[in-house]
Formats: sequence, structure tokens, C-alpha cells
Amino acid sequence: MAMLLQMYKLFIWVTLLGINVSDARGKQYISAVGDPGMRRDELRLAFEAWNFCNEVGEEAPGMGSPRAADCFDVSSFSLRHRVNETDNKLGVGNPFPGLGPEAENNADLFAAQKQLYLGSLCQVADTPNPWQFWMIMLKNGNFDTKSGLCPENGKKVPPFSSGRFPCFGKGCMNQPILYHELTHFLGGDTMRGSFNGTYDLGSDIRSELDGISFFEVVWEKKVGDGSWVFSHKLKTSKKYPWLMLYLRADATKGFSGGYHYDTRGMLKSLPESPNFKVRVTLDVKQGGGPKSQFYLIDIGSCWKNNGNPCDGDVLTDVTRYSEMIINPDTQAWCSPNSVGNCPPYHITPNNKKIYRNDTVHFPYGAYHYYCAPGNAQHLEQPVSTCDPYSNPQAQELVQLLPHPIWDEYGYPTKQGDGWVGDARTWVLDVGGLSSRLYFYQDPGTPPARRIWTSIDMGTEIFVSDKEEIAEWTLTDFDVLYTSPDL
Ligand SMILES: *[C@@H]1O[C@H](CO)[C@@H](O)[C@H](O)[C@H]1NC(C)=O
Ligand SMILES: *[C@@H]1O[C@H](CO)[C@@H](O)[C@H](O)[C@H]1NC(C)=O
Ligand SMILES: *[C@@H]1O[C@H](CO)[C@@H](O)[C@H](O)[C@H]1NC(C)=O
Repeated sequence: MAMLLQMYKLFIWVTLLGINVSDARGKQYISAVGDPGMRRDELRLAFEAWNFCNEVGEEAPGMGSPRAADCFDVSSFSLRHRVNETDNKLGVGNPFPGLGPEAENNADLFAAQKQLYLGSLCQVADTPNPWQFWMIMLKNGNFDTKSGLCPENGKKVPPFSSGRFPCFGKGCMNQPILYHELTHFLGGDTMRGSFNGTYDLGSDIRSELDGISFFEVVWEKKVGDGSWVFSHKLKTSKKYPWLMLYLRADATKGFSGGYHYDTRGMLKSLPESPNFKVRVTLDVKQGGGPKSQFYLIDIGSCWKNNGNPCDGDVLTDVTRYSEMIINPDTQAWCSPNSVGNCPPYHITPNNKKIYRNDTVHFPYGAYHYYCAPGNAQHLEQPVSTCDPYSNPQAQELVQLLPHPIWDEYGYPTKQGDGWVGDARTWVLDVGGLSSRLYFYQDPGTPPARRIWTSIDMGTEIFVSDKEEIAEWTLTDFDVLYTSPDL
């Protein structure tokens, strides 16, 4: 009887979602991504580069707008590419189908529309929604406060002087040089392609990497076998000490984490807390030094302080992020003596609230850093507010560290888990954990639906004082719906 009821619930649930249940290995699950486990031969991949506030600012000479894609179909051991290098090199002043006149000469708007255009070339029809690509995201953390390029909590502010941010001088927020090796057959049945490049304009990465920044993602797969393996490399330099490189599953429409414009991506339906898990295989080969905040998983979304979904109004939209940092060199900034770096409370798996002033029970070591949105009106003191410039709008961050209290969710429980020499396939109950994290809301407002528009993995090398290199491979990425009733 109970079995029958469960089958019935599954049936209703599947019908509601309008998706088919996968039945591999006899286990029933529904994937939220277009390419479950990265197993599809016909790859869909895009690249984007961001400046400090997730915009373009100015294109790098000869590179076009920093958006590119590698998408192809496979037939009898030949690849038919859907995006050519003319498309990939499109930049301000070059029209393309669908480009609005206001975007033609504005590098920020142009990039947003180029992403939609590349999405239209890569799009795969599917239920319940079409999807476009995995996204490689690269970000330069330099901020020239005299450039006037970044708003403060979404509000436009005039240029100002500050020594708080890395910048070697005018032009420090530049976009990178990008080289693209189109996916091709290596000989035999292995396909491979790559994106690489540097922020150091005028340097030649083909000779010597000493003294210059470098990024690279190489993808490889055998036809009809296994999953795409993405090998990442990120190197900082004196001029570019703060760099980020992630592989993202973003929403196929609407605002992905950190965006204030329509995006394209891989999440053909959007996971909502608590009912989803993330499966991924990660092998960190080189950590990237003590400042490398490697995110085993980073989830991003957007909702307003009153709980409403975001609508593109940067003054009231708030980007919400939570990430688990697995570099064992990362210390907890949250402590009994610095409760301003902790969320106001922790919620246990059996829904008990533990306030941060409860020094006996609060798991201080489980939180690296909490910071509240800069536009929140009713914050509990003491509190840190997040950097107001590094997103197009206000943001909130809940940064976690490996700790025994996360065991219930399949997350790392001790320093070193998942780090260099501990390659693993993780099945993380991201939905369950994120349903119990503290996020700020105005008092008396109905709780926001925690619908995640971005799920990413990669590292943020946060202002390194010497040249650092991080290197890792990622594969098998999947986002699985779970149901508490099953
Ligand atoms: C590149 O692709 C676009 C759109 O598919 C097409 O219009 C254009 O002619 C192609 N260019 C070349 C050089 O093949
Ligand atoms: C970057 O990629 C290009 C191919 O696009 C390749 O020729 C070059 O060797 C790569 N550079 C490095 C430093 O790996
Ligand atoms: C701890 O903090 C909570 C919430 O702010 C408050 O209600 C409570 O009185 C505090 N307890 C102590 C012992 O200070």
C-alpha cells in the first residue's frame, strides 16, 4: 500500500514537472540540467569574461566581446560546428541578428546580447525547456575606483580614491586575450578543444608564463563513452593578483547569480531548496596557494530583501551566494570573538536554531564568513556588509568550511576533504543544506522561495602576494531532483 502510494506520488510529481524519469542503474531520478553527467557527445559550451562588477567595460583590442561558444553536432566521426570564429569574434560595432541599436556601441549591453545570440546557435530542444550550454566564467578582481565603472550596491557612484582594491593603474580592469581551439578529433575517437589566454595584453603565452597571468580550460571525451572531462588552470601575476575561474550551470532564462540581465545556460528547470542534490567529480591537482578559495560548490541566486524574486531593478535586487571553501588554508573568520562575521544563527538538520551568542553550541568553525546585503534596513548588530562594488547590485554571502555538522548533507566534514590528493565523486545535498542557511530578509516578510539560478565550481584566488597556480579537473556534473516522499 505504502509502495503504491509512493509510486502514485512519483507519477504526480513527474507529471507536474513534465519531465521524464531517467532509469539508469535502476534508480529513479530527474535531472535539472540539459546534459546530465556531461555525457552528451555533442557538447554545448560557452565562455564569458567579467570585470570587477560583472560587466565588460572595454573590450580587449582585436578580441571582440568576451563571449564565445563551442557547440557542435557529431555524425559519423565528424564534427559539425554551430558557432564559427566570426560569431565568436563579434564585438561592438558588428551587427548580428537580434542586436538592438542601444547595444551596438555599448560593450556591456553588447556582451549580454551576444550571449543570447550564441545561445540561439547552440540551443537544444528539450522538455520542459530548451537549454543552451555549460558556461566557463573568468573574472578579473582588479578595481580601478577612479574609472567610475562599478556601482555601489547597484547605485551609480562617481569615481573615488581608495587603496582597498588591487589595480596597477589605468587599464587594470581590462578584458583578456582569448585563444580558442575548436573541438576536433585528436585521431582515434577522442575529441578535444580548449580556451586559454591571459590578462596581460601584449604578452605571448606561447613562450613563457613567468610573470604573466594565465587561464585555460581543456575539454576531452571519447565518442559514445564516459563523460567530458574539463581540465582547468588558473595563474595569477603581480598585475592580476585576484582571478576567478568557474564552470557554471546557469539558468536558461532570467537572472543567473551575479547577472542583472537575461542569461542562457544549462538548467532546463530550476532547482529549489530543499529538494535537489548535486553530483560531481572533482580532482584538485594544485591548490593555488593560501588565498585560493576553492569552491567545492557555489550556488547563486537573486531575490529582494522583502522575499520577492528579482526583476532587474539593481537598487532592490540582491544577489545571494553560498559556497563551501575546501582549501584547508582557509580559516574561519567567524568566531565567538568576531560574531559580526557569522550569520545570526545556525539551523541544525532537525531544525533547531542555534544563535551565534550561544558559545557552547554554535558551530563557529563551519562558517568562514557571513556578510549581509549593503541595502538591508534591519540588520542584527554586529554585522559585516558585503563588498558593495563587486556585483551589479547588493549581495549577500554565506561562506562555509568543512565541518562535522555538514555530514548529514554529504559535504566535507574535515579540512583536507576533497583537496589535493583526495579526488572524489561527491553527491551533495545542496538543496537540503541551502534550505537551512540563514539569508537576510526584512522582518515580517514571507520567506523567499530559494530557487537557484546558478550552480558553479572553481576557484577564486583572492589577492595573492605571489604568482600562484591552481589546477583541477571536473567531470560528471549533474543536478538531481529529490523528493522527501520517495
Ligand atoms: C558564421 O556563422 C554565421 C551564423 O551561423 C553565418 O551567418 C556566417 O556566414 C558564418 N561565417 C562564416 C565565415 O562561415
Ligand atoms: C593555448 O592554446 C593554444 C591553442 O588555442 C595552444 O597552441 C597553446 O599552446 C596554449 N597555450 C598554453 C600556454 O598552453
Ligand atoms: C542571544 O541572541 C538572541 C537573538 O539575538 C537573543 O534573543 C538572546 O537574548 C541572546 N542571548 C544572550 C544570552 O545574550
